[in-house]
This record gives sequence, C-alpha cells and structure tokens, in this order.
Amino acid sequence: MDIKQIFINNETWIKEKLKLDEHYFENLAKGQNPDILYIGCSDSRVTAEDLMGVQPGEVFVHRNIANMVPNTDLNVMSVINYAVNSLMVDHVVVCGHYYCGGVKAAMQPADLGILNPWLRNIRDVYRIHHEELDRIENEEEKYKRLVELNVQEQCINVIKTADVQRAYRERNMTVHGWVFDIKTGKLIDLKIDFGAILKNIMSIYRLS
Ligand code: CO
Repeated sequence: MDIKQIFINNETWIKEKLKLDEHYFENLAKGQNPDILYIGCSDSRVTAEDLMGVQPGEVFVHRNIANMVPNTDLNVMSVINYAVNSLMVDHVVVCGHYYCGGVKAAMQPADLGILNPWLRNIRDVYRIHHEELDRIENEEEKYKRLVELNVQEQCINVIKTADVQRAYRERNMTVHGWVFDIKTGKLIDLKIDFGAILKNIMSIYRLS
C-alpha cells in the first residue's frame, strides 16, 4: 500500500464527514462518552467499529494478540480501570474471532521467543479445558472451540478485577463474550452469565 494514499483517503473522509455535519469535528473534540469497552484481537480483519456499526466516540477500544486480559498486563488493566472508573462504561466486551492466529500459534508446540509468555496465557486456557478439547477430533472444530473458551476465560479475567466487581455492584455493569466469524461476518454472543460466574469465583477472587 502506498502510504501517501492514506492521507488522500483522510482528506476525502474529512470532506464526507463535514458534508453531513459541518460541526462534526468540533463536537468530536468536546470529549468522549462511550458506553462500551471493547477488548478485541489486533487482527487486521477484525475491525471493531466496522463490525459493530458504531461511530467514533461510541466505543472505547483495546486490541492485542488474541484479545487477552492477563492479570499482569499493565496495558489492558489500565484500559479497564480507566473505562470502568472514569468513562463509566456499562458494558465490557471481550470479542474473539475464529481463525485467530494467536490461538493457532498457541496450539503449535514451538518456541516463539518473546511471544511465549503471551501465548502461555492461551495454553493455560487449553489446559483448563483440555478434557473437552481433547474429545474434539476435527482440528478446525477444536481450534474454533478454543477461540470460544479463550473468550470465556478472558471474560472471567475481567470479572476478577476489583474495578469490575465494584461497578457490577454499584451500577449493574455487565460483561459480554462475543466471537466474530470471519467466514460469514456474523457476530456471535456466547451469552456469558456474568452473575453466575461472579458467584462461582467470588469465594476465591472477591476483591471488592
Ligand atoms: Co486474532
């Protein structure tokens, strides 16, 4: 791709926005008030705003390899803290996707250098659910199921944070687990039962 084209595209985009609303950028500059925190994969095919059909200002977005929420990752933990406590979002979404390269890499036995500690988090999800996963003979089905289980575990990681537990109690904030199917474009709701998970893990993970 010619990088110069990006700036041409940007000029076109500005003109289109201003044609619809001459105060568009003035209003955008006033501040943000998103209702959703979206945690998704960095994969170039999974464009957060596009697939949800939302506009700038509507969703606070964090993306990393395989939509992970590691407890020791200051980046994602800061994003959750800011979104929940300052932006006061009412929904936290973890969105995975089928055919995720990060999940695929974690399924291969290979030394991937600096990626090892990151992928270890996905391998841990495999270990927790190995009985179910080992029963699936079809490799593609197993891969897809691990994507779903990884979303579920990352939702649990979100629920383990003190900020989210407090926001749930105080304003009924909720957590959602979704999977984007690249082959069809469909967004699938895994119907994560926030209340049930919280109840289940509270004896160990209650922080707030
Ligand atoms: Co991915």
